Amino acid sequence: MLALAGCGGIQSATNPGGRGADAIYGLWSVFLVVCAVVWLLVMAALVWAMLRRRARHPMALAPELDSDPNTKRRLRRTVELATVATLVILLGLTGATYGVVSKIFPVHPRTDLTIELTGHRWWWEARYELPGTSASVVTANEIHLPVGADVTFVLRSDDVIHSLWVPNLDGKTDLIPGQTNTLTVRADRPATYRGQCAEFCGLQHAYMGLFVVAESPPKFDQWLETQRRPAPPPDNPDVRHGLDVFMANCASCHRVRGTGATATVGPDLTHVASRATIAAGRLPNTPGNLGGWVADAQQQKPGVLMPPMRLPPADLQSVLHYLGTLR
Ligand code: CUA
Repeated sequence: MLALAGCGGIQSATNPGGRGADAIYGLWSVFLVVCAVVWLLVMAALVWAMLRRRARHPMALAPELDSDPNTKRRLRRTVELATVATLVILLGLTGATYGVVSKIFPVHPRTDLTIELTGHRWWWEARYELPGTSASVVTANEIHLPVGADVTFVLRSDDVIHSLWVPNLDGKTDLIPGQTNTLTVRADRPATYRGQCAEFCGLQHAYMGLFVVAESPPKFDQWLETQRRPAPPPDNPDVRHGLDVFMANCASCHRVRGTGATATVGPDLTHVASRATIAAGRLPNTPGNLGGWVADAQQQKPGVLMPPMRLPPADLQSVLHYLGTLR
């Protein structure tokens, strides 16, 4: 109970914020209550049997079993009843589990919005197709979705098996190379939740996090509208120089729409300054953290693809100023 008191919060299945998590939490509660009652009954019976035996044979170390036929019949009846009760409870819990699974993974889910989510070592790439246009919005490690909408994640992997798990919203689904999985979630309350890769995928598996921002539909539309805009052109010489440094050092891996940087090895940075964190939820998105990340990402997450960038301090400052304009 003390351990459970620490549950709740932004990454917890016991603080459901959506349809799937509600169903899972309900099932979890049923299991908790049933198992607790069964455990208490078994313990009570055990204590009762021990005290009763002691009272009847106070001196005996290993009293012989009762040979009275009436007692034998009563004992057999008790064992039979307990067996039937166990069977009924197990079948009941199995039925309840199937009920929840069919709710979480319906055969024909409704879909209001599709997000393609690709797992990389060790970050998440999210692509929103915009209906009626050929344009799409690509972001990383921070997913926005409208409250009340059925959002279908189309899950793919670029390298090894990952697993999407946002416990406040729904159950887990794996991202498997060469296979496309889907998961439809619905957030019911506006909040920011933390998700975590739930399949061991190498050195930085533990830090393969993401944030899901569930917000009201108007706020979501506003966010999507901002995200679809290309990056603004530099408006002063320092930022202009930052863009030049970026093009010379970063453009071979990253994309910034509206510039000549079109690579897709690393995260799309068109609106990097709008994100709350960097490095797959590892660090708050502050100029200091971003500077440290650009200079030597291996210090923060050994093994990531991002190489150390040995930039002169003035160039590093300029590139940070430029990245800061990508809101
Ligand atoms: Cu990706 Cu663990």
